Amino acid sequence: MDDEFDYEIDPEDLPQGTPTRGELGAPSVMVNDLHVTYKVVGARKRGATPVKDNMLRKFLRRGKNLTGGYTEIKAVQGVSFTARHGESIGVIGTNGSGKSTLLKAIAGLLQPSQGEIYVSGIPSLLGVSAVLMRDLTGERNIMIGGLALGLTRQEVEDRFDEIVEFSGLGDAIYLPMKTYSAGMGARLRFAISTAATPDVLMVDEALATGDAAFRERSRERIDEIRQHAGTVFIVAHSLASIKAMCTRVIWMDKGVIKMDGDPQKVTAAYRKYTKDSATK
Ligand SMILES: Nc1ncnc2c1ncn2[C@@H]1O[C@H](COP(=O)(O)OP(=O)(O)OP(=O)(O)O)[C@@H](O)[C@H]1O
Ligand SMILES: [Mg+2]
Repeated sequence: MDDEFDYEIDPEDLPQGTPTRGELGAPSVMVNDLHVTYKVVGARKRGATPVKDNMLRKFLRRGKNLTGGYTEIKAVQGVSFTARHGESIGVIGTNGSGKSTLLKAIAGLLQPSQGEIYVSGIPSLLGVSAVLMRDLTGERNIMIGGLALGLTRQEVEDRFDEIVEFSGLGDAIYLPMKTYSAGMGARLRFAISTAATPDVLMVDEALATGDAAFRERSRERIDEIRQHAGTVFIVAHSLASIKAMCTRVIWMDKGVIKMDGDPQKVTAAYRKYTKDSATK
């Protein structure tokens, strides 16, 4: 502790580069040759005449797969990467390229069919959405979502005002969630999800509906989480949001990583790719 008050620092000893983008910590998420396959049961054999399902048939078929047929959808097919504390990683790619599946697997909501995922800390996939109830007020949902994230009742109460302020909902917080517009709902989910400063935060599409002011607040909040050594994954179709918020971008295509690296470079290549395929 002797050198605690030693303020003599050589400029050369300071970390190089911008602090917000430069200093990365230890690995927080390691994904190794991940495969996720959805099995859609009930697909019929080729050539079989489709029969209309009625309740009785469904009942007789329950738990069994009489046709013996199912379709496999290989949503993620061999993805490997390492994320570090302090990174915010944008995940881009066309519809159905496997972005949401990848995040759900990291969050532990889907079982890999092959490969491994290691996560240090508790991942939170803007996961409160699953527990929020449309018939209840925003106020009640803040408590439910907060508890689901592992906060205590007291902690949720302490952060209540901050969450409401962040969401920008004002008095609408006392109305049932089903009366909210898509954007209002997304803001509340984001505000609740980030209230706990999670180790690994994953945001899937939630920012798309926010207005400019909300996006700015979200960016600040994501920076804060990163500075507390968290890792943030953001899925978004808006390349501008991705560039504004991310220190790294992973481009998913048909279940594999097509490119991984600098946001400017990856988004430029993606834009070119989508333009090219649009003109074909
Ligand atoms: N619950 C499911 N059951 C069966 N197939 C699924 C399921 N969820 C996704 N898929 C399939 O997995 C593939 C990847 O889907 P995913 O939702 O991960 O894509 P995405 O990149 O998030 O797309 P988007 O940009 O539209 O959100 C798609 O072919 C999709 O049809
Ligand atoms: Mg998706």
